[in-house]
Amino acid sequence: MKIGIIGQGYVGLTISAFAAEHFEVVGFDSNQNVVNQLNLGVSHIEGVESALLAKWIKAGRYGATTNGSDIRDCQIVVIAVPTPLTLDRKPDLSFIEAACITIGQNLSKPVLVINESTSFPGTLRDFIKPTIDKYSSVKVDHLYAISPERVDPGRGDFNQKNTPRLYAGLTTEASEKTRDFYSKFCDNLVEVSSPEVAEAAKLFENTFRQVNIALVNEFAQIAYALGVSVYETLDAANTKPYGFMKFTPSAGVGGHCIPVDPTYLAAVAEEHGAPATFIRRANEVNLEMSEYIVRRVAADNGGDLKGKSVLVVGVAYKPNVADVRETAAELVIEHLRSQGAVVSWHDDVVGSWKGESSTLLHGADISVVVTKHDSVDEKKILASAPYVFDTTGKVKGAIGL
Ligand SMILES: NC(=O)c1ccc[n+]([C@@H]2O[C@H](COP(=O)([O-])OP(=O)(O)OC[C@H]3O[C@@H](n4cnc5c(N)ncnc54)[C@H](O)[C@@H]3O)[C@@H](O)[C@H]2O)c1
Repeated sequence: MKIGIIGQGYVGLTISAFAAEHFEVVGFDSNQNVVNQLNLGVSHIEGVESALLAKWIKAGRYGATTNGSDIRDCQIVVIAVPTPLTLDRKPDLSFIEAACITIGQNLSKPVLVINESTSFPGTLRDFIKPTIDKYSSVKVDHLYAISPERVDPGRGDFNQKNTPRLYAGLTTEASEKTRDFYSKFCDNLVEVSSPEVAEAAKLFENTFRQVNIALVNEFAQIAYALGVSVYETLDAANTKPYGFMKFTPSAGVGGHCIPVDPTYLAAVAEEHGAPATFIRRANEVNLEMSEYIVRRVAADNGGDLKGKSVLVVGVAYKPNVADVRETAAELVIEHLRSQGAVVSWHDDVVGSWKGESSTLLHGADISVVVTKHDSVDEKKILASAPYVFDTTGKVKGAIGL
């Protein structure tokens, strides 16, 4: 069986690498550079080893392409393209639409179309299917299913194989074929009664995280105002064996999911006249964290950061990955610069970002740790400036939240 996977990023390439063990995989991506690198056996995604990719290429089980017609004889097509927000923070389905156009224009025989991209309930039924129908030159009755991706890049304990996977088809046949496909490389498949439930569950999972992160970020501010250690309090609360789940404060939330997915839920909720107050406020609290941190740093340094050299340590949105999408470091740097600080950053995992490069980890007036990669030495961080503010709770001896 031949599988086409549209989008060869974090989600699509990860699925490709697992699926290639059982199927022939065509990885379609609109980015020529990504495709060129992949065809050389070079992976750009943590968790997908270049050696594995090269092995699949050599075995004729994987090839990347920018040519939509290369998916024409696939039996299953998986959509794994970005679902960001528009500039006015509304769901942006333009990438899904483009993927649907590729499918419509290139597939004249019925296939199983599975969406893995995160979006709001109704996307499969009311957007993907009609869009593919609209762009199909001949009438084709494809099968449609959703199986939202839960991959957590850089995570060692949970992967495609052992992370339970939700799925639902628009028809029973679509559900059965989806189960057959994923059961080859996923141990635990959970069928739900409709695609809308699977779509809503994915959004709610990330909304749960977003709201709880906002709560703990707000609590960190309360604890500081009360002169109580936030970390010790959280550890104390966490001794309760039920009814409590520990989240830790941070400079905000980043990545493709937590800052974005809840807004998809809020947008669709409000469209249907339902309030999304928690979600909206949680987003604000998380965004405001960067400003709070800069206020704290300024207050500890004579109230003024003008002309001070500030080193931001770690600009990836989370430890041990190079992903800078929606990283809280961006807002922290923005606020520091707006206070007149001379800001540089150190992050060897990211290397270069927004036209700037990672600088050395020393010689600053002030260091602010936003993300602590395992590879970065704690002692070196502490020695990088006379004043070190750590937003991660991982650098012992630094000033913290
Ligand atoms: N990254 C994660 O941890 C994660 C986890 C769960 C779910 N998701 C969801 O999965 C989806 C994909 O996310 P990602 O992290 O893989 O994104 P990504 O940006 O890493 O990769 C997307 C890829 O799609 C390509 N692309 C864009 N438009 C295309 C098109 N029309 N045709 C072909 N290729 C196209 C891009 O060039 C890019 O290589 C999103 O909906 C995201 O919310 C991501």
